[in-house]
Amino acid sequence: MSAVLTETNLFKPITIGNGIHLSHRIVHAPTSRSRSTNDGENFPTDLMIKYYDSRSKFEYSLIVFESCLVSPRSGLVPFKSGVFTTEQCEALKKITDKIHENKSFVSCQIFSPGRVSNIQLVKDKGLPYLAPSVIYHAEGHKITAEELNYPLKELTINQIHDIQEDYVTAAVNCLTKGGFDLVELHGTSGFLIEQFLSPISNTRNDEYGGNLENRCRFLIEIITKFIDHPQIGSSKFGIRLSAWSIHFGMNYPEDKYPINDTYPPLLFCQYILNHLEDLKKNGKEIAYVSIMEPRVSGSFDQDPDGKSNSSLVKAWSGKLIRAGGYATNYKGDPSILKSNNPNVKITKDGEVEHYSSLKQDINADDRTLIAFARPFTSNPDLVHRLKNNLELDLYERPFFYSHQLEGYLTFGNYVDENLYSNTLQFPIDELKREGISLKSK
Ligand SMILES: Cc1cc2nc3c(=O)[nH]c(=O)nc-3n(C[C@H](O)[C@H](O)[C@H](O)COP(=O)(O)O)c2cc1C
Repeated sequence: MSAVLTETNLFKPITIGNGIHLSHRIVHAPTSRSRSTNDGENFPTDLMIKYYDSRSKFEYSLIVFESCLVSPRSGLVPFKSGVFTTEQCEALKKITDKIHENKSFVSCQIFSPGRVSNIQLVKDKGLPYLAPSVIYHAEGHKITAEELNYPLKELTINQIHDIQEDYVTAAVNCLTKGGFDLVELHGTSGFLIEQFLSPISNTRNDEYGGNLENRCRFLIEIITKFIDHPQIGSSKFGIRLSAWSIHFGMNYPEDKYPINDTYPPLLFCQYILNHLEDLKKNGKEIAYVSIMEPRVSGSFDQDPDGKSNSSLVKAWSGKLIRAGGYATNYKGDPSILKSNNPNVKITKDGEVEHYSSLKQDINADDRTLIAFARPFTSNPDLVHRLKNNLELDLYERPFFYSHQLEGYLTFGNYVDENLYSNTLQFPIDELKREGISLKSK
């Protein structure tokens, strides 16, 4: 028999930040589900209270809340919550209060879409459509910008500084008004921070572009501002990075960028981690670094061949959250999922050993946590299932970003190994309904 997860570090308590005591090392990864409002106001909805309530029931868990918008002038998309107004934060507090009632903790991931903004939305609001450089992430966006006569513009230095201040305000809002315990800077998935970090999207020739140091400046300066701010400070925030995400146009042509020690995303991740490690040595350790495994990009599995996070793991000695394809024990055929394959071992006796990557990574040191996204969508009681070695229900991708209750609140807790979906019953009107804004009337 392979070791059960309770015999690994996964169920060993750990403390992150300043006194956030967790009873285990399973983290709810940031998982945007497009259940916030589409009314131009970017408010969370009642559906989200129920979702996060069920996912935080296991006491002393850490939830990383889905990405929230930093400010209108750094870009907007619909169906996402914002953290730029007091009202939005008061609405989000209805969710964080629920998580705290369950004795769990919550970190808010903050981001700006920049060049991947919804162009119609920013145009309608008379907002600028901006990015580090005038490089569209997709042909479709370029065409839309042309059709709307609303082209992408390069950020001026003043605009860059304004947006950095927006990040500070957003973080303070989360911590002081939204009830969040921590804030997470979203440094991947092709959003604004990565648009600065990457040579693919940043061809500026001022101090915010060009060489590696300049491309990292936007993020490094935000880190400094956070650390120096009396209402934030190093222990109150984490950072998410990935060297392998190709999400939103971050594709590196193999002929120009072969995967070796000079692969640009590996270099910018290392640069940031070296900086964070120096800060740690100087008594300014941030709460955590979150990285994504090479077998995943965004919400999709990808081929991890030739790619490794080992240099990143070595570069940072603080608390480390790793995510990506760690769950394997789904009901039915274990080879059904691509990401299972490298993680499921068949032992000499023909026995299937689940969670082999998880066991290896969680036991490699005493500071790693493992985050899950897709498994949490279909298993609200994921922590309980992992603890009790129970099989998981398979997620349903068509509902990831749909806006209604169905596929969001319809997955129940574990009932039976033979039940393929523990579908909770709702009247049809309720199933099709979108969330009601949590904005106070
Ligand atoms: C529906 C969905 C939404 C996601 N939204 C976010 C997000 O808002 N921010 C982020 O950093 N990652 C996001 N991710 C990526 C996950 O956090 C995670 O890294 C990835 O899904 C791999 O983990 P998994 O194999 O456990 O799903 C999302 C993934 C999914 C499936």
